[in-house]
Amino acid sequence: MAKKPNTDDILSKIRKQGAASSDGEAAGSSSEEPATPVEKPKAAPAGGPADIMAKIRAQGAAATAKPADDAPVAKKSAPKNPADIMAAIRAQGAGGTAAKPAKPESAAPAKKTAAATAAPIGDLPPVDEMLRQMKTGSIGSATVSAASAKPVLKVPVKPAKKAATADASTRRGFLSWFSAGWAFLTVTSGAWVLGLARYMFPNVLVEPPSQFKVGSPSDYPLGSVSTKYTASNGIWIVHTDQYKGKSLIYALASVCTHLGCTPSWLEGEQKFKCPCHGSGFYMTGINFEGPAPRPLERVGLSVAPDGMLEVDKSVKFQEEKGQWEDSKSFVDASLV
Ligand code: FES
Repeated sequence: MAKKPNTDDILSKIRKQGAASSDGEAAGSSSEEPATPVEKPKAAPAGGPADIMAKIRAQGAAATAKPADDAPVAKKSAPKNPADIMAAIRAQGAGGTAAKPAKPESAAPAKKTAAATAAPIGDLPPVDEMLRQMKTGSIGSATVSAASAKPVLKVPVKPAKKAATADASTRRGFLSWFSAGWAFLTVTSGAWVLGLARYMFPNVLVEPPSQFKVGSPSDYPLGSVSTKYTASNGIWIVHTDQYKGKSLIYALASVCTHLGCTPSWLEGEQKFKCPCHGSGFYMTGINFEGPAPRPLERVGLSVAPDGMLEVDKSVKFQEEKGQWEDSKSFVDASLV
């Protein structure tokens, strides 16, 4: 089987053919009378330069006419000079390399590249067309991104529901303010009612009754001072015979005649002693020391119908005024 000529062989043959034709023409023009009739050149045998050129042109034309599904677009015109021939040969070689079944790992990317440059993707135009449009500015990246983006499912919103939601929100706000107003009015009204009730019950100093019973006369032996009612009623119950030699029971007010302090009964010293300024009083109530200007005061004391001693604080008896002689200021113990 004859060896297929490669590119270098073809080029060397072309150069040789060109050189031979130039030599022939030069020889014909220089000798005006040929010595021997020139034989017509025989038809070049198959595989000669002319055939090779024709074959190259045919191959170039075939490459041009071939649909560009897996190869770049070739020139439509047939190569006429060596440069064109070289270009056609390179194009052919590139096409052959691309069309040549290569290794599985290299063939796949080649097909991918051809498909990326020629075949349209989905609804997009071919890559060449897209490049041209991008250069001219009639298409932008937004077109590609919009075309490649996934379609978004748009859920229509019912305007009626929107309006209903707005109405409900407005109603809730109104009810909230309405409730707050009613709550404020209720609290204010309650405060007014409480103030009125407080006005109806003014401050009243509750004091013990001025008349009260303190027990039987036998509960107070001679020479004793009872402090049982000092804290609650402000009196001492005294039974003594030191005042004018008579056994008398009387009630002394526990108020110092100096400035109103409450003296204390000192059992050991048998006297009343004021803690404020040191005034002292005998068991009878007569002042004998300190700033107190006069004796303690007596309050009313009598024997109730039931035989109980009854105190009346509404009346007072002062010794300096001779009021201790009043029978209502004491109870004669010898008579009860
Ligand atoms: Fe009792 Fe002054 S008030 S001595």
